[in-house]
Amino acid sequence: MSHALCPGSFDPPTVGHIEIIERAATLFDSVTVAVIRNATKKATLTSDERVEFLKRCITNDKINVISFDGLLVDCAKEVGANVVVKGLRAVSDFDYELQMAQANRQLSHIETVFLSTNPGHSFLSSSMVRDIARYGGDVSSLVPAPIAADVASRFALEA
Ligand code: PNS
Repeated sequence: MSHALCPGSFDPPTVGHIEIIERAATLFDSVTVAVIRNATKKATLTSDERVEFLKRCITNDKINVISFDGLLVDCAKEVGANVVVKGLRAVSDFDYELQMAQANRQLSHIETVFLSTNPGHSFLSSSMVRDIARYGGDVSSLVPAPIAADVASRFALEA
């Protein structure tokens, strides 16, 4: 049984995240999406909000959504995942992602598989969505339809 872990901060989830998660579900028997704290970022949405947003966007029953407080490798152990899946948008993602993959492999021998992002999403990031929403811009093509209105209002409130 192959079980993939798709970790991220998802603050908020974007169409790029959901595309990678759905592609992972075509490659592995099951997928756990984990909202995990990124120590280098201060999240706006709570973990519960991010889990709820992700659940609204994901209908595939091979995919489970959780939040986890701790190391990615401990999350993988807890859910029984044997591979980590991450999206790579551009070469600018590579150094950071490579370091994380190597650190995680050193810690627990877990492999990381990189999926190349759809080129139409390569410019897209949660921080860009937050910025656009904060100033009242249209995020409806950047985040999945089930959360677009809530992302717009939730981040506009932070302005
Ligand atoms: O969406 P992001 O912010 O790029 O996701 C990064 C995340 C949350 C996957 C990463 O920060 C992480 O794995 N955090 C958990 C702590 C951990 O395991 N750190 C060591 C990995 S090198």
